[in-house]
Order: sequence, then structure tokens, then C-alpha cells
Amino acid sequence: METLLLQNTEKDIARAGEILRGGGLVAIPTETVYGLAANALDGAAVAGIFRAKGRPQDNPLIVHISHLDQWKSLVREIPDKAMALAEAYWPGPLTIILPKSDIIPEAVSAGLDTVAVRFPSMRTTRKIIDAAGVPLAAPSANLSGSPSPTCARHTMDDMNGRIDAVLDGGECNFGVESTVVTLATDIPRLLRPGAVTPEELREVLGKVEIDDAVMGQLKEGVKAASPGMKYKHYSPKAEITIVKGSLDDFIKYTETLCRAGDNKKRFALCFDGEEESISLPCVTYGREKDSLTQSHRLFTALRELDERGAEKVCARCPSTEGVGMAVYNRLLRAAGFCVIDSHDAS
Ligand code: TXA
Ligand code: MG
Repeated sequence: METLLLQNTEKDIARAGEILRGGGLVAIPTETVYGLAANALDGAAVAGIFRAKGRPQDNPLIVHISHLDQWKSLVREIPDKAMALAEAYWPGPLTIILPKSDIIPEAVSAGLDTVAVRFPSMRTTRKIIDAAGVPLAAPSANLSGSPSPTCARHTMDDMNGRIDAVLDGGECNFGVESTVVTLATDIPRLLRPGAVTPEELREVLGKVEIDDAVMGQLKEGVKAASPGMKYKHYSPKAEITIVKGSLDDFIKYTETLCRAGDNKKRFALCFDGEEESISLPCVTYGREKDSLTQSHRLFTALRELDERGAEKVCARCPSTEGVGMAVYNRLLRAAGFCVIDSHDAS
């Protein structure tokens, strides 16, 4: 299949809408990451998403809307807390899970009785949803397991030949996926951290629990509340180790590795301004205290490591405060949960 590269023009947005209405697949920009969209109410179109990504069938999709009114028909009811949350953070990088209505196809909810809904803030995304005239199911537009794409080129790298079109809307603003919170439990629960922080959720909801899968690895046999969190994820081909501790400890640790003399292509994933003092080739992902820039650049940095042929990567550990929790959560999965404390190691 030839994959069209569409531009951010009225004409091409209309074309994307037509393809989506006709049951096709279009990768679209959002303020978080690029999404691989299909008509959310058409089970056959949605099945195409799973095929194109190689996505496990038990991993449900987020439904994207362009007007608050569209939410009503997708869920059983909208409790006051959910509406308050939507009023505070929609449109924006927040996904809200509620019990689903009967119009949601099995393929979207992957057998669960809930549905995840997001009202994106990027104007182009909303225009595409309007042009399609239906809500759009859209997971991140990467091949299953790879880092999510944050620009049209990365999306094409993964999806060329597999889908009808990619619409180029430039670089994504946040660069990591939306915050996912479920209100289908007695106490609201954060399933995936994103740009809307736990503190911001608590301002509206009061108590919010943080799912065990957010900061660590689920134990064998525990059922994942958010199926996506159990898979190895966001991974470049290189093997990543997150190295906790100060820059000095990190430098000592990498120097010990170099002296040990293994001949793997070893890189450092570090903060801006640290390249001079680290004796490995470096890829940077923002300043140490700047979680927003780190979220914007992390997935691009992971793809760059692949492009440069990295085999082993020592990564500086980000702060887990505020948006940093989302950065750490993605890097932890990219590293297959491999974290060491450089102070203990050196
Ligand atoms: O920012 C985003 O959310 C992007 C853009 C395209 O909107 N989308 C995205 O979709 O990240 P995806 O499919 O890559 O991640 C959706 C996550 C998965 O971890 C999935 O398991 C979880 O949300 N999820 C979806 N529906 C759910 C449900 N009903 N219950 C629990 N988890 C759900
Ligand atoms: Mg994804």
C-alpha cells in the first residue's frame, strides 16, 4: 500500500477526513505524540490499527473527540467528578476512563467494560476529527514496542506502506503520551503519568491512587489495570541501563565500564551541558531540572540512539517530580526496568 504524506492544509485535512470516514487509517499529529487513527465506531476499521502496529489484541485504544458533547454517547454516564476534571484539563493531554456505552466496538475496549476518552488540545487534531465526522480511536503511531513518534518522519519510518496516510502537523508539543486516569474505580486511579500531573488531578478529584505499574514493574501474575503498561515499551534496539546518582557518580561508573574494555558500542543518554565531562558518545534530552523539555525530547533521543548504532546505553536518571514522573515512567520501560545505583556500584 502506498502511504500518502498529507500536509497541514484545509484541503489535506478534508482528504484525511474522507479516508477516515471510508474506514481507512491515517496517522495524525496531536499535542502529545502522533496517533494512528481510525473511525472508533467501526470495528473493522479499528481492527486495521492492530494489524498495522502489530499490537496485542488485549490492549484497548483511546477514543478522541473534538467536542465535549461527543463524550455522552461513548460512556454510560458522566459523573460530576469526571465533568469537573474535563472542565479543568480538557482540551488537553488527559485521558479519562469510564464504563462504556453499547456503541463502543469490542476491538476498541479489548473486552473491558470501560472506554478511555481524550479531547486533544491541538487544533489540527480537532479539525481532522471534525472532518472525519466521527470520534477517532488512536493509539500512538509507532510499531508496537518502539518509541512513540513525535514528528511525521518518525511516523513514516514506522508506518510507511502499512497505512493510507500520515498528516504532517510538525513536532508534538509535549512529546510523551497523555495522562491516563480511571474514574471507573471507587477511588480515581492514575494508570499512566503524563503532562497533567498527579498534583493537578488531586486539585480536582481529592484522593487519587497511583497504580503500582506507574513507577515499577508489575509482579508476575498481577492483572494490569492498564494493559499497555505491562508490555516492554518505548524501546530502542540498544540495551538501556538507568544509572541513579550524581553526575560525578555517573562519570565514575561509565569510566569503570570503559576500563573493563568491552567492545560494545556504548553511549550515554545524558542532560544538556554534560557531554564535555562524559567520555562516551552522548545523546542529550534536556537540562537536568527541565522535565518539560525532557518529555519533549526523550523519544527523539531514543530513536537517535538507534540511528547512531548504539548497542548499550547508560542513561542519567530524570527527576520524578511533576511531569518528571512521566519521563521516568517511559525511560524505565525503554530500559526494561533495568536501574542501578551508581553510588553503590562504583
Ligand atoms: O497521548 C496519547 O494518549 C496518545 C495520543 C495519540 O492521543 N495515545 C496513546 O495511545 O498513547 P496508546 O494506545 O499508545 O496508549 C493507551 C494506553 C494503553 O496503555 C492502554 O492499555 C490504556 O491507555 N487504555 C486504553 N483504554 C483503556 C481502558 N479502557 N482501561 C485501562 N487502560 C486503557
Ligand atoms: Mg503507545
